[in-house]
Amino acid sequence: MFDRQLVTDDRTLNRKRLLETAEAYLQLKQERLSALANMTALIDAFFDDVNWVGVYLRRADALVLGPFQGFPACTDIPLGKGVCGTSAREGKTLVVDDVETFEGHIVCDRVSKSEIVVPLLKDGRVVAVLDLDSPVAGRFDEDDRKALEALAGMMVDKLW
Ligand code: SME
Repeated sequence: MFDRQLVTDDRTLNRKRLLETAEAYLQLKQERLSALANMTALIDAFFDDVNWVGVYLRRADALVLGPFQGFPACTDIPLGKGVCGTSAREGKTLVVDDVETFEGHIVCDRVSKSEIVVPLLKDGRVVAVLDLDSPVAGRFDEDDRKALEALAGMMVDKLW
């Protein structure tokens, strides 16, 4: 289970520990909402330089705000809008090094400079997206993408 001593200065180790700790939490019998809340807390703990981490849940033609860590955020994002809605429509991870270059980016906290959005796919259908924002341009690399996609897969397997 989580202990703050698990968080180090080594991003590689932190990603590994995030996945291990998340797996342990996902074994617990719990409601989906509770598990999602803890997942956002774990990501927030193990990812440095992140100002917002949250889940948006899929509804018929929009995403709605789920559990998150950070400042208040927009509650409804139509599919195809913003980085989240585009990722949800395409069913693909989007890594945006500079949010100002992404046409239609939705500003929730103006400190955000870069963003990664990872879809949660159940039988090929997007059921939610994970969204991380950073105040640092180009914060998210290929290893972050792989780790968050692995986490998204674990979350779908256990919670949907
Ligand atoms: N920037 C996102 C909106 C959600 S916030 O970052 C929390 C987007 O463009 O979809």
